[in-house]
Amino acid sequence: MPDDWRQRIIELFLRETGEVYADVSLASLNIPKWEGNLLLIDNETYPEAESLKGLLWSLPFLEDGVRVAAFVVEQQYQSHGHGSDAWDHLIEHAQSLGKKTIQLEVKADNTRAQDFYQKRGLAIVEKLEHYYQSGLGYMMRGDIEQHLA
Ligand SMILES: CC(C)(COP(=O)(O)OP(=O)(O)OC[C@H]1O[C@@H](n2cnc3c(N)ncnc32)[C@H](O)[C@@H]1OP(=O)(O)O)[C@@H](O)C(=O)NCCC(=O)NCCS
Repeated sequence: MPDDWRQRIIELFLRETGEVYADVSLASLNIPKWEGNLLLIDNETYPEAESLKGLLWSLPFLEDGVRVAAFVVEQQYQSHGHGSDAWDHLIEHAQSLGKKTIQLEVKADNTRAQDFYQKRGLAIVEKLEHYYQSGLGYMMRGDIEQHLA
């Protein structure tokens, strides 16, 4: 990924989550190529780095799980359904692969994101005392419901 795109991602994380990601941390997320990764792009300004308005990154985890590593939509594009669309796409793809659980980490003070996940069947399963530099975090986990045949 070009430098200016990596910087754009770091800027998005910082602005929307308050988390500071170093370039090396971003590289170490080790995101595989699969359909669980989605970018929200403004076609008018693509391929400028600023055309990136959001992303959902996830990875297959253990045998039948999925872990969301990063999920962010730039503020002016939030509440337009983009996050839901990306989430639904990920769940549908995970279902098609027979995945059964989905989990992620979220800051304890990020109640909006927690609401979003709770409405989609996830629950807090663990407190994370040292995960975030800025304070307490939670691990949330939920079942990926299987489509009925
Ligand atoms: C969490 C996040 C990724 C969700 O993305 P989003 O694009 O805002 O999500 P949506 O617009 O699909 O849904 C958000 C809510 O807005 C509502 N909404 C959806 N479309 C809408 C529309 N056209 N107009 C108004 N509201 C709408 C939905 O009802 C949804 O509420 P719900 O959870 O009850 O379904 C985004 O808010 C974000 O980036 N937050 C900051 C970063 C963050 O906290 N990331 C998660 C870290 S773990």
